[in-house]
Amino acid sequence: MIAELRNVSKVFADPRSGRGLVALNDVSLSIEEGEFLCLVGSSGCGKSTTLNLMAGFEAPSRGQMLFRGEEVSGPSPERGVVFQEPSLFPWMSVLQNVMFSLQDGGARKAVREERAMEQLRLVGLDSFAHARPNDLSGGMKQRVAIARTLAMEPEMLLMDEPFGSLDEQTRRKLDNEALSLWQRERKTVVFVTHNIDEALTLGTRVVLMSPSPGRIEREWHIDEAWPRDLSSPRMVSLRQEVVGMLQACPCANGAPRPSLLTLEED
Ligand SMILES: Nc1ncnc2c1ncn2[C@@H]1O[C@H](COP(=O)(O)OP(=O)(O)O)[C@@H](O)[C@H]1O
Ligand SMILES: [Mg+2]
Repeated sequence: MIAELRNVSKVFADPRSGRGLVALNDVSLSIEEGEFLCLVGSSGCGKSTTLNLMAGFEAPSRGQMLFRGEEVSGPSPERGVVFQEPSLFPWMSVLQNVMFSLQDGGARKAVREERAMEQLRLVGLDSFAHARPNDLSGGMKQRVAIARTLAMEPEMLLMDEPFGSLDEQTRRKLDNEALSLWQRERKTVVFVTHNIDEALTLGTRVVLMSPSPGRIEREWHIDEAWPRDLSSPRMVSLRQEVVGMLQACPCANGAPRPSLLTLEED
């Protein structure tokens, strides 16, 4: 096991009512070393909150977030994050953007440059090292963001709908690249998506969350080899099962459910 949420609840202050909004309620989840875990669920079920807890951007209201057995107290390079929007510095070159994440390491500039170039080669963008982000397509920008995160040599890669804003064709291409990267590097990946097909294409495990309050509904271990054929009988029936459970949640069809709950006081 590399990371663990142990009975984690997360309560946010609801800006409108001032009451507590329970984003996660008593979530326990172990992340195994080297797995490609896909976290799925409808919008608002707490996927990003879960990832932000793993990243150390948020702290649990109750329970523990552990990484290698120790409580997470904030962000760290050992847990690299890739967001949906790449947020690159537009005035810097692609290479400088990747090197920027290495500034705190104390390495000499030449060493940092070499490491950054190596990561750009990994994502197939070394020939664009001196281009500006605005000259790149959305998919290429996201590859730079991935290179920037990989340059920090994280042990765990946390990706929050990383390809969610890209067109379908580019998304599939980047899915394949993410998979090859994982197969080569064997880093632990936690990948958030609301796209069931994407999760089934990639994950060694798919965890379904449900909302109001956010919790883990079910999980599936997928031992099918890659590339996966989603039209195979096994994958079709698995897909039906996941989609069925997702639709069983009243929120999936827009029906209102009480979202304002208060955790019982200790
Ligand atoms: N910083 C915050 N302040 C208040 N409410 C939040 C905050 N972040 C998330 N929430 C609420 O927590 C719930 C879960 O959000 P989120 O984790 O972003 O869901 P998902 O990523 O699955 O769409 C939602 O109801 C959302 O509005
Ligand atoms: Mg989200």
